[in-house]
Amino acid sequence: MLTYQALKEYLFRLDPETAHNLAESAIRLSRLCTPCQNYFIDKNFVVDERLTQIIFGKKFLNPVGLAAGFDKNATMIRQMAMFGFGFTEIGTVTPKPQDGNAKPRLFRFIEEESLQNAFGFNNQGMLAVKKRLERVYPFVLPIGVNIGKNKLTADKLAINDYKTLVENLHEFADYIVINISSPNTKGLRTLQNEEFITELFKMTGETTTKPVLLKIAPDLDKKEALSLCVKAVESGAKGIIATNTTIDYSLLNDAKNFGGISGKALADKSFEMFDYIAAELYDKTTLISVGGIDSAEEAYRRIKAGASLVQVYTGFIYKGPSLAKRINEGIMELMNFDGFTHISEAIGCERKSRR
Ligand SMILES: Cc1cc2nc3c(=O)[nH]c(=O)nc-3n(C[C@H](O)[C@H](O)[C@H](O)COP(=O)(O)O)c2cc1C
Repeated sequence: MLTYQALKEYLFRLDPETAHNLAESAIRLSRLCTPCQNYFIDKNFVVDERLTQIIFGKKFLNPVGLAAGFDKNATMIRQMAMFGFGFTEIGTVTPKPQDGNAKPRLFRFIEEESLQNAFGFNNQGMLAVKKRLERVYPFVLPIGVNIGKNKLTADKLAINDYKTLVENLHEFADYIVINISSPNTKGLRTLQNEEFITELFKMTGETTTKPVLLKIAPDLDKKEALSLCVKAVESGAKGIIATNTTIDYSLLNDAKNFGGISGKALADKSFEMFDYIAAELYDKTTLISVGGIDSAEEAYRRIKAGASLVQVYTGFIYKGPSLAKRINEGIMELMNFDGFTHISEAIGCERKSRR
């Protein structure tokens, strides 16, 4: 069997977006080979009572999910079990299809195991995605649907885009994520303000009974981020996802001066933001940590700080298809070492000991 190391040598010779598109085609094609799918599910999918949780009324067989942005158009949902993910988040989806920003818009920083992207919500739009979700939902893996406004929608009309998206997609989502934290849509991050967040979650509360979460940027002032998250939860948000990519270009040598950085370079910054928010919110709402997670140790650090679930994107590109399996197995070893018999005992244990 071809190792990921060998495959990566080849893929990394291609332009990063071409490599992504090729990988997407291959992943989609795997549906034609049921034995191949079964082989990978057996190989990578960790099912263990110690990791199983009910969250948002849905069973999460393990806590490691695929972060938004990899499967923007919901074309690979069924295949995510082959990579051992316990849940998947599709999108960001916008109401109308859009092309995103000019290419090139995805860059690798191989030494730093990081990426920088300036995609700008390229996606096929709500209706195309809805058709695919209708075919697959409900699925054994919980499905998150990440939504964002169109580039051409004025900020003062942004609420209408989010309402349309929730109305159209909520039936086919186990949870919905409001994305106002991407750095690649001009003005989007300015929506990270209390007034808009209050209005947003009032609207979602009136539109759906599905859990709606807020995904935040790592670049906000920590106090400000926390008060926005508190406001979101008070207004009806059922969870916080921290964090999106960063615009702190000092984190990489030779960073571009546009787009958002993800991967190892983001890990500590993302953790610090998560930890700050979790100190206040971990037992008040569901927290999902994302940003630079590529090992069981890093995932466990987030769990102990208060994350019920973690997500990966860039680590998946650098470490390959067995990353979720390695993280899940490693988490169980670390739990054993700490004397925990279920993940719920590990979640936020650092908080409990400090309070
Ligand atoms: C190429 C790329 C595209 C992304 N697209 C989205 C997106 O559409 N919506 C979103 O909420 N986050 C998006 N993200 C951010 C990831 O979901 C995640 O928050 C971030 O990359 C940090 O995690 P990581 O270090 O494991 O990659 C994207 C990330 C990358 C690398």
